[in-house]
Amino acid sequence: MDSPRLCICFLFILNFVVSLTTPQPEPRSNRCSDTGNYTTNSTYARNLNALLSSIPASSDLISDGFFNSSIGQNPNQVYAIGLCRGDLAVASCRSCLNDSVQAIIQACPNQKEAGRWHDLCMLRFSNRNILGSMDNSSVYVAWNIGNATNGGDELGNERFNSLRGYLLFNLRDQAAAGSLRKYAADVANYTNILRFYATEQCTPDISELDCKSCLNSAMKDVTTDCNGRLGCSSIKPSCVLRYETYQFFQTAADASAPTPLVAPTPPMPQSPPPIPTNTPGMHDVSHSCLNYSTTVIRIKCYGMVVITNA
Ligand SMILES: *[C@@H]1O[C@H](CO)[C@@H](O)[C@H](O)[C@H]1NC(C)=O
Ligand SMILES: *[C@@H]1O[C@H](CO)[C@@H](O)[C@H](O)[C@H]1NC(C)=O
Ligand SMILES: *[C@@H]1O[C@H](CO)[C@@H](O)[C@H](O)[C@H]1NC(C)=O
Ligand SMILES: *[C@@H]1O[C@H](CO)[C@@H](O)[C@H](O)[C@H]1NC(C)=O
Ligand SMILES: *[C@@H]1O[C@H](CO)[C@@H](O)[C@H](O)[C@H]1NC(C)=O
Ligand SMILES: *[C@@H]1O[C@H](CO)[C@@H](O)[C@H](O)[C@H]1NC(C)=O
Ligand SMILES: *[C@@H]1O[C@H](CO)[C@@H](O)[C@H](O)[C@H]1NC(C)=O
Ligand SMILES: *[C@@H]1O[C@H](CO)[C@@H](O)[C@H](O)[C@H]1NC(C)=O
Repeated sequence: MDSPRLCICFLFILNFVVSLTTPQPEPRSNRCSDTGNYTTNSTYARNLNALLSSIPASSDLISDGFFNSSIGQNPNQVYAIGLCRGDLAVASCRSCLNDSVQAIIQACPNQKEAGRWHDLCMLRFSNRNILGSMDNSSVYVAWNIGNATNGGDELGNERFNSLRGYLLFNLRDQAAAGSLRKYAADVANYTNILRFYATEQCTPDISELDCKSCLNSAMKDVTTDCNGRLGCSSIKPSCVLRYETYQFFQTAADASAPTPLVAPTPPMPQSPPPIPTNTPGMHDVSHSCLNYSTTVIRIKCYGMVVITNA
């Protein structure tokens, strides 16, 4: 029995909006950087094609869900980075990156530099050396339209933001300290029935310090844009952060019948790669405020739960 929490709940009857996991369009965003064009059949086009088509089958994806490589000679050298979400099995990782390779070429034809961000993987290429360099510019920030508290309940809102901050700070440090995989995921209880689920991840080619710095920028987006929001994502070239009040990532414990996901080569990353399932996508494309399917649940701590449609 957690009496302080119960006491707060009695004094301030909090209203929550809980988003339910209805499948939504897969989140994705393309960024075609107009920094230069290549021509069809040029050396750059051949290098780019060779590099991108090597990504899905690359053995680099086995150990850490990460690809970073370069091909060709200046001025036709191409650099590429591919990264899968830390809980993704290698087969799903390959398939996500394969889809991204096809999609990015269609979305950004003849662009020397472009990127694609999807909930499960990201892909970037450029004619400048992007490997190992931290980029904390914003691709997008998206949030759940539901608020943690309705009716200006400041105490509930503050408590929500402060628990969220605590969780996100811890995850930042865990993710940044990772070596092969800079990924961390965790859950925190807000009330008996409302929980925070959060993930943070950096591309593993950047340093611990740069990873922290990138995730600091992402946390700043959360503070600025997602005050009291029930879910929020900040997506950047070098790092991604997301939290929700429902489980959107897989943990090892979710795997009912664990099977080896990873070739038995390097040491396991900090948390064992779990079995993936279809995670509900939640964002539309290229809007900063994205719609979720939500149901309002008004919670009174003595157990009365009224459900109404939002
Ligand atoms: C690249 O091509 C697009 C259209 O094909 C054009 O709008 C753009 O200005 C070009 N960019 C450069 C840097 O030449
Ligand atoms: C590219 O090469 C193919 C085959 O060599 C040729 O058919 C096509 O016309 C060329 N395209 C351009 C834009 O030069
Ligand atoms: C990648 O996608 C193409 C079609 O888009 C398909 O033919 C190919 O088999 C896929 N490769 C992998 C490794 O999934
Ligand atoms: C959530 O809060 C924001 C700002 O505090 C407000 O603009 C918005 O209308 C609220 N949304 C809902 C669904 O209550
Ligand atoms: C969070 O809540 C769940 C379910 O009520 C419980 O099993 C778990 O132990 C709680 N975790 C913490 C850290 O309190
Ligand atoms: C790719 O990243 C790894 C770290 O994950 C690093 O050791 C390696 O040097 C990088 N490769 C290139 C080409 O930068
Ligand atoms: C990126 O990080 C630098 C250094 O930490 C910081 O000065 C800058 O404001 C950050 N940019 C964004 C968009 O957060
Ligand atoms: C969100 O939903 C509202 C009303 O249902 C609609 O008007 C708006 O266009 C939607 N926004 C997005 C980004 O889909």
